[in-house]
Amino acid sequence: MSKSAARSLLLFLALQLRNGASFLLPSPAITRCSGLATRSASCGVMRASEAGGDTEEVASLNVEDEAKAEDEGADGLARSPAGLTLDGVYKRLTLETQGRVDGVVGLESKDTDYAIEVVKVQVQRKPSLGMQLEEVARGGDGRGLVLVAGLEPGGNAEASGKICVGDTLCSAGIEGDMSRVEALDWDQTVSVLGSFAEERRIVLVIKRLVKRESINVQFELPSGTRDHEIKAGSNLRGEMIRLDVPVYDPRTKRFDQPYATGNCAGEGTCGTCFVEVQQGADLLTSPDQEELMLLSRGNLPVRWRLSCKVIVGKENKAGTVRLKAVPQAEWRSQARQ
Ligand code: FES
Repeated sequence: MSKSAARSLLLFLALQLRNGASFLLPSPAITRCSGLATRSASCGVMRASEAGGDTEEVASLNVEDEAKAEDEGADGLARSPAGLTLDGVYKRLTLETQGRVDGVVGLESKDTDYAIEVVKVQVQRKPSLGMQLEEVARGGDGRGLVLVAGLEPGGNAEASGKICVGDTLCSAGIEGDMSRVEALDWDQTVSVLGSFAEERRIVLVIKRLVKRESINVQFELPSGTRDHEIKAGSNLRGEMIRLDVPVYDPRTKRFDQPYATGNCAGEGTCGTCFVEVQQGADLLTSPDQEELMLLSRGNLPVRWRLSCKVIVGKENKAGTVRLKAVPQAEWRSQARQ
């Protein structure tokens, strides 16, 4: 192929199922170019592969070179708000089974430095959405990965202020009549968008990779205070174990089995993994009904939480959290006085 020919890459979308099975979707050659395409008449989106453009032939994907270029930002490629190229987004996404419904899959981050943010946006549908979509992976069964590759200057997508390069659509439609497009290939995605071509406005639900913020967590221990950086989205108990911060007090009786020893290993049933939140409660996820029920017994202090039920860095917010680990011992001695 000449240097002016379309850039072609063979990409494979790894599907890693939570049950341990994994498989690869075979992908055809995906054509890339740097120019904006003409609008599709059917749905008002633009497909990069339909446009001409002065692009570079790539025989194989050199991950190291690309990662370096990505870090340096010197390649001139469009980037997501997190600074990722489309290939960078693609490499960090994996398709996993979601919930308990067989066959329902969803895109998740496989890079621990990035989290998935879900954004819902209303966009004017006419005369066009004004966004350039690019298919970066495709399987033979309708699955694939389509990313926003660019926004038309002054177009509806740009005017929404909420759609960015690197986003992928999860569902589209109007309130009460949404169609799922997550992890579908180009044809399926455009077909759904086209089916709402007569609407004045449509709703898009989008997934976006965002850099996970770091939370400064100060643990108060009998031996003194320890400071640790914990990534937003992490389970508190899991991080305490990883950081060798004590989680359990052997004298605390299990709620679910009062005469048994040990704990439920994070299943949220034993009620023994307490922390006391002294600062930064707004950076932690709120207790669910199960945790509230366990915390409501025995007049426990209101600032106690079950560490296995807490996710640090709610909504990917950064800040400082101060926690007392294993607060039961002090509480018991105060109760005796
Ligand atoms: S480890 Fe059992 S409730 Fe947290």
